[in-house]
Amino acid sequence: MMSEIQSIQWFPGHMTRTKRKIQDSLKLVEAVAEIIDARIPVSSRNPDLDQLVQSKPRIILLNKCDMADPVQTAKWIAYFQGKGAYALAVDCKSGKGLQGFMPLVRSVLADQIEAWKTKGMVGRSIRVMVVGIPNVGKSSFINKMSKSSKVKVEDRPGVTRGNQWVTIAKGFDLLDTPGVLWPKFEDPAVGEKLAFTGAVKDQIMDTEQLAGRLLELLAARYPHSLQERYKIQASDTEGKPGYELLEAVGRKRGMLISGGEIDTERAAMMVLDEFRGGKLGKITLETVK
Ligand code: G4P
Repeated sequence: MMSEIQSIQWFPGHMTRTKRKIQDSLKLVEAVAEIIDARIPVSSRNPDLDQLVQSKPRIILLNKCDMADPVQTAKWIAYFQGKGAYALAVDCKSGKGLQGFMPLVRSVLADQIEAWKTKGMVGRSIRVMVVGIPNVGKSSFINKMSKSSKVKVEDRPGVTRGNQWVTIAKGFDLLDTPGVLWPKFEDPAVGEKLAFTGAVKDQIMDTEQLAGRLLELLAARYPHSLQERYKIQASDTEGKPGYELLEAVGRKRGMLISGGEIDTERAAMMVLDEFRGGKLGKITLETVK
């Protein structure tokens, strides 16, 4: 089956429609929550969003921080804050960090909330639009936030038809992403990182090549993770091409096919699965420049 991201690439009309929907829906909200993958904070963002939502305050949620390197996550938060955005590390699987979301939004919008009070608009809800490329955890975020406040998802007929509003607390509503926000998939380096995390389906890239590239990156950035998981010494990985690293992993795991050859395809699937499952440790593949 064709992946969501592939289909978007093939039908550019999607992009225009999503842009328009986001633009229209911006009028309905006070702020935007942009969800990104803390392991790939550059590749999991759509750079066009900066231009698109510049009129509203933005809260960047570095999600999946349970699988990301905490030192790098802290650096990325400082980086985004330096750019005038607000940033928060969260884990939408366990809910860690989410308690900081509403207080952060309220403090960002403090002047606005004060102005509503002055005008006597006491019943006015804070409304935040949730955006992000596929698989970063938007649904998980909305579900977790709505579960914690025990309110249901509702389809509120309104200005823009089909908009999904979720009340997460009294006077606090989230607007689910209006349309699919595509990643900047044309850049091969970005596509590769999205494939590492599983945001893009494997079929579009050669699995062995992909796993080999991941191993090269890990050998350069997190050699101890290869040492711990696969018992490959850093001295054996330095400067080695991906294919050799993959063979080394397969050999250590006894993945052999007839004739004593190493089953690199099986090894590749395992490496990717283990990385995606967080079994290789807390890893961030993009650093602040
Ligand atoms: P989307 O709406 O942006 O497309 O993303 P969605 O919430 O569907 O999340 C995509 C995958 O990422 C899901 O895994 C989800 O469980 C996982 N995920 C979301 N947030 C976090 C997080 O903070 N930490 C971790 N470790 N995983 C997270 P899945 O394999 O597609 O489904 P499932 O395992 O939940 O069944």
